[in-house]
Amino acid sequence: MSNLNEVIQLATKEIKDSTNLDELEKTRIKFFGKSGLINQEMKKISKLNAEKKKEIGKKLNLFKNNFSIEFNKKKNIFEDQKIQEKIEHDFVDPTLPERSINLNSSKVHPITQTTEEIISILGSMGLKYVEGPDIEDDFHNFTALNIPLDHPARQMHDTFYIKTNKSNKNVLRTHTSPVQIRSLKNEKVPIKIFAPGRTYRCDSDITHTPMFHQVEGLVVDKDISFSNLKWFVSEFCKTFFNNESLKLRFRPSFFPFTEPSAEVDVNCSRKKGKLILGEGDEWMEILGCGMVHPNVFELSGFSTEGATGFAFGIGIERLAMLKYGMPDLRNFFENDIRWLNHYGFSCFDIPDLNWD
Ligand code: PHE
Repeated sequence: MSNLNEVIQLATKEIKDSTNLDELEKTRIKFFGKSGLINQEMKKISKLNAEKKKEIGKKLNLFKNNFSIEFNKKKNIFEDQKIQEKIEHDFVDPTLPERSINLNSSKVHPITQTTEEIISILGSMGLKYVEGPDIEDDFHNFTALNIPLDHPARQMHDTFYIKTNKSNKNVLRTHTSPVQIRSLKNEKVPIKIFAPGRTYRCDSDITHTPMFHQVEGLVVDKDISFSNLKWFVSEFCKTFFNNESLKLRFRPSFFPFTEPSAEVDVNCSRKKGKLILGEGDEWMEILGCGMVHPNVFELSGFSTEGATGFAFGIGIERLAMLKYGMPDLRNFFENDIRWLNHYGFSCFDIPDLNWD
């Protein structure tokens, strides 16, 4: 068995002499690999008598333990050396500013950002977020909103009709007002909801796109009056535009589902083609609103219990364009990455709301 002793001596020497991780690993494979020298010695054991087997077995186990201890010691030393070298060569400047996350690779679309802002404001003002379907039936989109079949307001809506076999025609909703009907059908006094979402009209020019976004608001409770509506709408606008001195003008208007109805303008100035809100004495229309028409309550089977309500509808693109100075509505839907990089928002941009 002098061969085994020689192998042990050789292995101990080679471990000692190895100068890096590579050499160390080669030594391990040379002695303990599948066809390594130790394995070869092990095979010989089977031919020995019981006593010799025991003696050699013990010796081999002892050596295995010692080898593994020496191997790990050296391995730790070489790994530490490697880390040390890396620290010395790699220069880290802790004074550099951090990189913004995905600043150039992904942006939040202005519609999404503006909708988030609206949700945050109306939510804080006590309204509940609700949704309605994009495909509506004629009843919810028109009839229940006091727009009967022969009403001229139907023409104004440039509706996309969807073919169905049923007598009740389906449409792509032309406004978010049908969500009012859904709430009136399902809820009781008091109702305080808002519903942002996509709306569709068969119209396409510089100020119209076939798909656009609106947010609807509905508040029904005891003693709700036009002054509540005025306060609510002006509070919303001042917060959204972050401008306490914004002036609002309620202009009498007509919607079949509200009476009285108003369109709301905000004051602005146009200096050298630049539009500034909350300054000057020109006016810019931003939303439609009014007191819920009694026919709407009746048609949707809502028991008012003496309550009254107000409703408003706002175009989200219009709000975004006015707040962030985007001149052309059509850009919103062209998917031009350069436009999005310019007007888009970082994912963690929190709107600067002027809460007291
Ligand atoms: N639905 C109306 C529109 O699309 C807006 C509106 C909503 C007006 C609620 C009054 C009340 O033009």
